[in-house]
Amino acid sequence: MAKEGAEKADETEQMIEKEGGKEAAEGSGGGSSLRAGDTKEMRAVLLSGFGGLNKLRVSKKVMPEPQEGELKIRVKACGLNFIDLMVRQGNIDNPPKTPLVPGFECSGIIEALGDSVAGFEIGDRVMAFVNYNAWAEVVCTPVEFVYKIPDDMSFSEAAAFPMNFVTAYMMLFEVANLREGMSVLVHSAGGGVGQAVAQLCSTIPGVTVFGTASSFKHEAIKDSVTHLFDRNADYVQEVKRISAEGVDIVLDCLCGENTGKGLSLLKPLGTYILYGSSNMVTGETKSFFSFAKSWWQVEKVNPIKLYEENKVIAGFSLLNLLFKQGRSGLIKGIMDKLITLYNEKKIKPLVDSLWALEEVKEAMQRIHDRGNIGKLILDVEKAPTPLMANDSTETSEAGEEEEDHEGDNENKERMPFIQ
Ligand SMILES: NC(=O)c1ccc[n+]([C@@H]2O[C@H](COP(=O)([O-])OP(=O)(O)OC[C@H]3O[C@@H](n4cnc5c(N)ncnc54)[C@H](OP(=O)(O)O)[C@@H]3O)[C@@H](O)[C@H]2O)c1
Repeated sequence: MAKEGAEKADETEQMIEKEGGKEAAEGSGGGSSLRAGDTKEMRAVLLSGFGGLNKLRVSKKVMPEPQEGELKIRVKACGLNFIDLMVRQGNIDNPPKTPLVPGFECSGIIEALGDSVAGFEIGDRVMAFVNYNAWAEVVCTPVEFVYKIPDDMSFSEAAAFPMNFVTAYMMLFEVANLREGMSVLVHSAGGGVGQAVAQLCSTIPGVTVFGTASSFKHEAIKDSVTHLFDRNADYVQEVKRISAEGVDIVLDCLCGENTGKGLSLLKPLGTYILYGSSNMVTGETKSFFSFAKSWWQVEKVNPIKLYEENKVIAGFSLLNLLFKQGRSGLIKGIMDKLITLYNEKKIKPLVDSLWALEEVKEAMQRIHDRGNIGKLILDVEKAPTPLMANDSTETSEAGEEEEDHEGDNENKERMPFIQ
C-alpha cells in the first residue's frame, strides 16, 4: 500500500513537471529557453484542487526563468493571508484553474534579471507582490511589483509587509482621508491588516481606534487599539456608548450583517469601506450556505439615503488594483511612504509565527482556528518540525480525488516557531 502511495506521488510529480515544462515551452511563466535536460527544479506548495487543507502539499516544479521585465527572486519567506484560505476553498470570483501554486507576496534575494529591467541588481534584498506562485523556492514577477528591503528589516518582516500595510494605508489615507482627531472601527484587529491599521492610525495625532477581536488576543494588542470589544459582542451598542455619534471610518472585512451595522455607525461625512468577506469562511471547505447568507444579509444601499445622511460607501481590493487595474505605479509610491515610516520606526510588521512550506496546512489551520496575532509566514529555509500525524509532503492514495474531511487536522501536533 505504502509503495502504491509513493508511486502515485512520483506519478503526480512527473505530471506536474511535465505541465511545468509545457508552460515553459509556451512561455507562460516557466522560462521559454528551457529544454528537456536543462530544466532545474524547485520546491513549491501545490494546490491540487479547490477544497480543504488536504488539497495542499509540497511538490517539485520546474524553476521559472525571468521573462522580459521580470525579476527572478530566490525566496526566503512568504506571507500567508486570509485570502489564501479563500483561494484554497475556491471562494473567490473567477478562480484560476488548478493545480496552482498559491501565494501573493514574498521576500528574498534577486538571482537574475530579465531583459530591460533597470533599478535592481543581482543580490538585492527585496519584497514583492506576485500574481499567484509566491509559495515556492524561486519566483519570477514583473519589476513593477518589487521593492527593496530596508537594511534592518528581516525577510520575515518583509514578507509580512506589502499586503497588510499597503491595504491599510490605501484605505485609511487614499480612500477615507484619515486626519487628526478622527475615529476608526476595524474588525479582526489582532490580524495582519488589523494590526497594520492600528499602527498607521497611531502615526496621526488623536485618532481613536475601535477594534473587535477574539478575547484571548486583547491582552496582547490592547496598547495598539483604544477600545477593544470581543468579536461576539454587540459592538454597535458598545461604540455608541462611548461615542454617541459613531465613528468617521468603518473598515469592514467581514461583510454580511456587518455592512448594515457599519453603515449605521457612520458619522455624517463618514466613510464605510468593504474590503473582505471573512464571514463566508465557516469551515475548511467552501460553504454555499455561508456565501448565500452573507450575500443576503448585506445592506442594499440606496444612494438617495447616502445623500440624505451624508455618508460615503466604498470598496477596496488591492489584488485587483495591482493585477487587473494596472495601478502598480500608485502602489510603488505608497510603498515608498511605508518604507519611510518603517525606517522612522513608526510601523513594524507583527509576525505571529514561522512555518516550513511542508507545514502549510497547519499554518492555515491556525487562521481557521482564529489563533493568530499578526501575520503567519512560510519560511522557505525552515525545516518542518518532526512528528506529524499527516505531513503535507505526502500524497495520499486517493491523490487529487481525495475527499475533504472537515477538521481532519484536529489531532496535529506540529508547533510553529512563535516569534
Ligand atoms: N481587499 C483587500 O485588498 C484585502 C487585502 C488584505 C486582506 N484583506 C481582507 O482583510 C481581512 C484580514 O486579512 P488578513 O490576511 O490580515 O487576515 P487576519 O486578520 O490575520 O485573519 C485571521 C483573523 O481573522 C479573524 N476572522 C474573522 N472571520 C474569520 C473566519 N471566518 N475564520 C477565521 N478567522 C476569522 C480572526 O480573528 P478574530 O477571531 O480575532 O476576529 C482571525 O484570527 C480578510 O477578510 C482579508 O480577506 C483584504
